[in-house]
Amino acid sequence: MSDSTANPFRSGMLMEHPADPCVLIIFGGTGDLAQRKLFPSLAHLVREGRLSEQTQFLCVSRKPLDEHGFRAEVIANARQLAPDSIPDETFAQKFSARIFTVTDAGEGGRFDRLKTRLTELASSGGPRNHLIYLSIPPTGYAPTIAALGAVGLSASDAGAWSRIIIEKPFGRDYASAEALNSAAAAVFKEEQIYRIDHYLGKETVQNILVLRLANTLFEPIWNHHYVDHVAITAAEALGVEERAQYYEESGALRDMIQNHLMQILAMIAMERPASLAAEAIRDEKRKVLESVRPFTEQDVPNIAVRAQYAAGAVAGKAVPGYLEEQGVKPNSRTETYAALKLHIDNWRWSGVPFYLRTGKRMPKRVTEVAIVFRKVPHMVFAQSPVDRLEQNVLAIRIQPNEGISLKFEAKLPGHALHVRPVEMDFRYGSSFGGRLSDAYERLLLDAMIGDQTLFARRDSVEEGWRIVQPVLNAWAHDANDALPQYVAGSWGPSEADVLLAARNHRWRKL
Ligand code: BG6
Repeated sequence: MSDSTANPFRSGMLMEHPADPCVLIIFGGTGDLAQRKLFPSLAHLVREGRLSEQTQFLCVSRKPLDEHGFRAEVIANARQLAPDSIPDETFAQKFSARIFTVTDAGEGGRFDRLKTRLTELASSGGPRNHLIYLSIPPTGYAPTIAALGAVGLSASDAGAWSRIIIEKPFGRDYASAEALNSAAAAVFKEEQIYRIDHYLGKETVQNILVLRLANTLFEPIWNHHYVDHVAITAAEALGVEERAQYYEESGALRDMIQNHLMQILAMIAMERPASLAAEAIRDEKRKVLESVRPFTEQDVPNIAVRAQYAAGAVAGKAVPGYLEEQGVKPNSRTETYAALKLHIDNWRWSGVPFYLRTGKRMPKRVTEVAIVFRKVPHMVFAQSPVDRLEQNVLAIRIQPNEGISLKFEAKLPGHALHVRPVEMDFRYGSSFGGRLSDAYERLLLDAMIGDQTLFARRDSVEEGWRIVQPVLNAWAHDANDALPQYVAGSWGPSEADVLLAARNHRWRKL
């Protein structure tokens, strides 16, 4: 497959040229995300010749960091977590020689030492473009942005650009997201700001638009005339792991629904963009999120469910309940499961419920979008009464077993006329072979190229918060209600089934 067909959002021209040379300045380079995702992704990009030879990686640390030791640590972690990113010792040497460190805690609200280090790198032939990556605790975002501005590191001019990637969580509610957006806007222009949502970098999420817009088949039926409901599931088998400190402040709604699931919903439900230009796509996403029907705190019991996992077993292994996890408060009310029923009040989706659910410690890891079609209006097959027929389902498997399946009814072979559902299945693995690149590879490269399509714009982040805000408020106010529980390794609380029951819908068995 050529690059231009594999990358629907990008002109072939851009892909033929490597990204601009730049210094990728990583705040939080010793942290989990940088070690687990960023450096292995960069190594893959270097291996594939996607980055300019001159591109360098500069890790900014608050505490003194030995450059030599840091390079060795990056290589060791990449070897362990993504073995194919570091094929041999020669590559390890070449790659790690591009990694630099600087110690700068931003004292006095300025990054003077960082600035000096960048000047040094530039005077020995290093790039003048700067891509800044904030992979630090979110309380550090606004001060770091301000301190970058104070030393002029936010300035883009004709000769050199400066861009900033901001990791999630982008705020913890509507007000804080808005405040963070304003703090960023005071220093960087919107076209310099790349708010990362790694779900948008997943091949399968990008493919949603190709599925819809490169085929004759689907778009005509992609509306309330044919679609009965849409269900988006992001289930994880893992528990809170070592992230209790972060997760306790977040919970499933903030961690997954406000961002990842909302972005998927936007890709599924948006109108056709006028072009594949970044802003055209982002405009449509904003419009559809704006059309999500507002609800009040009083509506919340009817449209949202939360729960916490209790001890149970996942894949045959006994696991503790959330409250027993290390770092979790014994009386924590943080939800590890959340489900939401939304409506989109526009011409296309009138009356079609969108169900979103996510949970930790579910039976397996699976992210899927199910487009469930309406029942046939009249049934002529006497032996298979219409209410026993299953509905057609287009299932987009985001991960794992990436692919798409279409469920439809077929005649069971034999003399009698019996009908049974069957599936047509497309799998990335068997159709295309090869490795699906990690979302971070695509997103890092896009930021270096200057393509914002797969990054969340200010308005869509704020819309995401606007939608979930009444749920956050209601859940914060009902501190005395018992929090539903689900056994680890189950598909969530029975309350989530009730959410769908009003319309006689059911969560799909995955
Ligand atoms: C992150 C969440 O954004 O996404 C994690 O903070 C979650 O809690 C992760 O585990 C899931 O990502 P993926 O790519 O494994 O589905």
